[in-house]
Amino acid sequence: MNKIKLMNKISPVGLDLFGEQYQVGEDIDDEDGILVRSASLHDYTFNKNLKAIARAGAGVNNIPIDQCSNEGIVVFNTPGANANAVKELVLCGLLLSSRKIVEGIDWVKTLEGKDDASKLVEKGKSQFVGPELEGKKLGIIGLGAIGVHVANAAIKLGMEVYGFDPYISVNAAWGMSKWVKNAQNMETIFSECDYITLHAPSTKETKGLINKESIDMMKDGVRILNFARGDLVNSTDVLAAVKEGKIAKYVTDFASPDIINQENVIVMPHLGASTPESEDNCARMAVKEIKDYLESGNIVNS
Ligand code: MLT
Repeated sequence: MNKIKLMNKISPVGLDLFGEQYQVGEDIDDEDGILVRSASLHDYTFNKNLKAIARAGAGVNNIPIDQCSNEGIVVFNTPGANANAVKELVLCGLLLSSRKIVEGIDWVKTLEGKDDASKLVEKGKSQFVGPELEGKKLGIIGLGAIGVHVANAAIKLGMEVYGFDPYISVNAAWGMSKWVKNAQNMETIFSECDYITLHAPSTKETKGLINKESIDMMKDGVRILNFARGDLVNSTDVLAAVKEGKIAKYVTDFASPDIINQENVIVMPHLGASTPESEDNCARMAVKEIKDYLESGNIVNS
């Protein structure tokens, strides 16, 4: 019987696929496999029996990859399984970065009494004005499943979309709309685009990618979205640029104490993949991967 330790809550739609040959739970010690979503395994002591870890999500920065390689532990993730969910939240982020939706909603909450209906029209309409997305340039850094989903959706909104990924061209990216333009380099994205959205993993190369130097190349009033990983952005440099008005809005799915409650910064608590559909998809894919490996030795990262 194989033993699977759960480090987070994982959708039962996936767990049901294990069947009777598996013992699955949070209190298992000598596990053959681990299923994890957001818990960090960096300080976790792996038992000698552990053969595989599957992450129900795309990023693997909560797993000590080098240690796993040294110890022969296979690591799986679920690329694409939550791409639609993240894409939808990024579209929401684009609108939040542009139209003064949050400011308007917050202001309405301050209203009281019967005079407020006229105030709504008077102040609301004139004060909370923000540009449309149609015709604006969107730069996408990272052309994996999520970047491609976002690019295709933004094309449908009438945006002029540029994609950049050091490892793959727009033409070679799977499922990419032919209307997306290939940016030759990151500088093109920085200097040309009105909106920039990050969809790259957190690696040595991408850490601090958005910093004073890259911000200086950007247009005044640029809007930046980060639904990838918090450390792709140097938050000190971003906050300084937001205060100066160089960055009109920074929208991120990664909360940290320095960026919460700042004007023109919208912070969400890592909600990108938080839909039942995406949780089911990720769980199904992660369970199939780890099961296949434990039963047949197949390494198929879906
Ligand atoms: C991901 O890496 O795909 C996300 O972090 C998934 C999640 O929210 O758990």
